Amino acid sequence: MSNKIFAPKGTNDILPEKIALWEKIESQAKNIAARYGFKQIRTPEFESTNLFERGVGDTTDIVQKEMYTFTHKGKESLTLKPEGTAPVVRSFIENGMASAAQPVKLFYLTNCFRCENPQKGRYRQFHQFGIEVFGAEDASSDAEVISLAYEFLRELGIKDVIAKVNSVGCPTCRKAYYEKLKAFIAPKLDKLCDDCKNRFDKNPMRLIDCKVETCKEHIEGAPLMLDELCTDCKDHFEKVKTYLDCMGVEYEVDPKIVRGLDYYTNTAFEFIPKDSTKSQAAIAAGGRYNGLVETLGGPKTAGIGLAMGIERILIQLEEQGIEIDTEEYTDLYIAPLGEGAKEIALKYSTLLRREGITVLTDVMNRSLKAQMKYADKINAKFVAMVGEDEADKGVFLVRDMNTKEQTEVPFDKLAEFIK
Ligand code: HAM
Repeated sequence: MSNKIFAPKGTNDILPEKIALWEKIESQAKNIAARYGFKQIRTPEFESTNLFERGVGDTTDIVQKEMYTFTHKGKESLTLKPEGTAPVVRSFIENGMASAAQPVKLFYLTNCFRCENPQKGRYRQFHQFGIEVFGAEDASSDAEVISLAYEFLRELGIKDVIAKVNSVGCPTCRKAYYEKLKAFIAPKLDKLCDDCKNRFDKNPMRLIDCKVETCKEHIEGAPLMLDELCTDCKDHFEKVKTYLDCMGVEYEVDPKIVRGLDYYTNTAFEFIPKDSTKSQAAIAAGGRYNGLVETLGGPKTAGIGLAMGIERILIQLEEQGIEIDTEEYTDLYIAPLGEGAKEIALKYSTLLRREGITVLTDVMNRSLKAQMKYADKINAKFVAMVGEDEADKGVFLVRDMNTKEQTEVPFDKLAEFIK
């Protein structure tokens, strides 16, 4: 019998050759989050179990079937975080962020743990890039959140992913809708699966997206929340669509997007590959959760956010044959020859670094040939050579390392030339 130990089912090692790619995705995530004004937050890997029971909802698959829960020293029930939103809301409340300038915009890159049946794109430990906005009720905030995901995927070069948007209403219009929906379903209830039967009373909207074929047949033609919205919710949804158009986000309205977590109100959305028929295909998903902060004991605060599965993004990159450039480049290498030229190189490397340009120069007294070799090694895009002649003329001889073209550039025009 083999005594080998394997990684637990549904987990993956991220091997050294993949680290550059992961880091690139993470740094692009941080970069876009910063451009939209989000600040990073890191919450613990485990939380009190009742945070998820109350936050995510005790009728959801996550809470009923998928949590890694353990009892600490026979007393406290703790759970590895299955998602990032409830922990961020807990932290928002606990750290008094409701009294900070609103909106509070937070992002995270986190591990998540769900005890699901593993398959491609569905793991027991996976990674999310998520954003949460607190204190903004306006539809422009919904559009901004959706636009961030849209732009992120666009910047990565991922194509043929569509944002499917819907409104799941507010507690008021939902109450009236549930009556209608239940009246439609009640005569067929005994033909539905056990999950549907359980959800009938507690969370009937989830019946709309049951994946069991026989349930789908019985539910066909059921009333949809989108047709039953109250005036305020309808108005909010119309504005979300208008603002998405303004921001150039391609989307489709899909009244069957109801989401598997309980906290959503109004806008709910998923980013799904256009040709996908798989139920587990969402690359990113999220929505508004105007009641969640209060549910978890905080002051009434509007909220909206989304999370993207990093593994699912990587699968899209691979399937679409998109090569992400993970090579490190140096914007400029200044190659001085001689003592006078060295002073010029030091002066201009400082000035250009102040302008945000990555500059390396010689600190080894190397020959020009050795410096050019080094510039190649560090993937310099440009090399600015300066010897006695150039120093007299007040120019650098700049070599574009890609085209090999050489141009004389006045000292004070160097930044402009290479930008
Ligand atoms: P979610 O739809 O449960 O929403 O997950 C968001 C994304 O995480 C999914 O679209 C998918 O890309 C990825 N994901 C989920 N489960 C797995 C898995 N087992 N393996 C791999 N990837 C997975 C949430 O988690 C909400 N907290 C999103 C949100 C933030 N809503 C508002 N703010």
